[in-house]
Amino acid sequence: MTTYSRITGTGSYLPPRRLTNADLARELAAQGIETSDEWIVERTGIQARHFAAPEVCSSDLALEAARNALQAAGRSASDIDLIIVATSTPDMIFPSTACILQHKLGAAGCPAFDVQAVCSGFIYALTLADAMIRTGGASRALVIGAEVFSRILDFTDRTTCVLFGDGAGAVVLEASDTPGILASDLHADGKHVGILCVPGTVSGGKVLGDPLLKMDGQAVFKLAVGVLEASARATLAKAGKTEADIDWLIPHQANLRIMQSTAKRLKLPLDKLVVTVDQHGNTSAASIPLALDASVRSGKIARGDTLMLEGVGGGFTWGAVLLNF
Ligand code: ACO
Repeated sequence: MTTYSRITGTGSYLPPRRLTNADLARELAAQGIETSDEWIVERTGIQARHFAAPEVCSSDLALEAARNALQAAGRSASDIDLIIVATSTPDMIFPSTACILQHKLGAAGCPAFDVQAVCSGFIYALTLADAMIRTGGASRALVIGAEVFSRILDFTDRTTCVLFGDGAGAVVLEASDTPGILASDLHADGKHVGILCVPGTVSGGKVLGDPLLKMDGQAVFKLAVGVLEASARATLAKAGKTEADIDWLIPHQANLRIMQSTAKRLKLPLDKLVVTVDQHGNTSAASIPLALDASVRSGKIARGDTLMLEGVGGGFTWGAVLLNF
């Protein structure tokens, strides 16, 4: 009997259009919105982000990331028996982006569904896939985070539009006799719905309410730092491990200051912190698998390393996964 699930390949994809802070500041200035590279770097650590072309959807980004992950795992789409896509920017209201992706991949037949947990989506999706594999419901899963957050940004609100980017990251998670995922921890507290949301909806053929992202940045900041520390500690305790066992901390890439505070609270040296927010901005559910894949491909993360992945986002949702890579 299979006891574990393990990541056998990672992949990612960024749309080609890259905007540095200076590029974005220039575009915003043309609309009378003032910002600067200095402000964005100092408050967030972000230097650049990628934006998808208007006709490109989350499933298109997911497709490229999935193909890269399959190639890294030495698998083809027909080997996959479960697809979970974490996204808050789906192609359509329904069907799910996972079903659209499944068709593009040519992997008909296997279960495919989306997870909506905003920036914690990949952690939720990975935990679900792990549970399905360990209970025999699947043996080779594609778990993907894919977002086109540029579609839901208010480019007249400088407090939010400079923070986010588009992209996708994917892993192939397979049944294994050797430990991969060691423990996970998921949470939500719906009383914080209002501090980070896209409050609009579609009804009667019209958009009702505001379809653009709203955020109380300081409230998010305060909550994020506390829950990321608590969730990492809870996950370590479940796995019978300590902070000293962590080789790499890969938190949701929202803001460098939040990430550094989390590492400090866990008494981890900052050189164990994986940082890609500087080049990607906040890509919501895609940020963790994007950071993972970038670090694997650059040779920073090696087979056998112990990774702590952590997500936090709208809902409010948060959680962590500890794994042997
Ligand atoms: N450029 C220039 N000035 C700006 C900008 C900008 N882009 N945005 C805000 N300012 C100004 C404000 O108007 C304000 O000016 P004032 O003092 O004259 O009123 C000043 O900068 C300070 O604004 P604050 O909002 O107090 O800035 P703060 O230090 O809190 O930084 C930030 C804002 C970066 C959003 C911070 O609160 C933060 O990082 N919060 C966490 C956000 C986050 O990580 N969200 C995502 C997590 S969950 C998810 O990923 C979906």
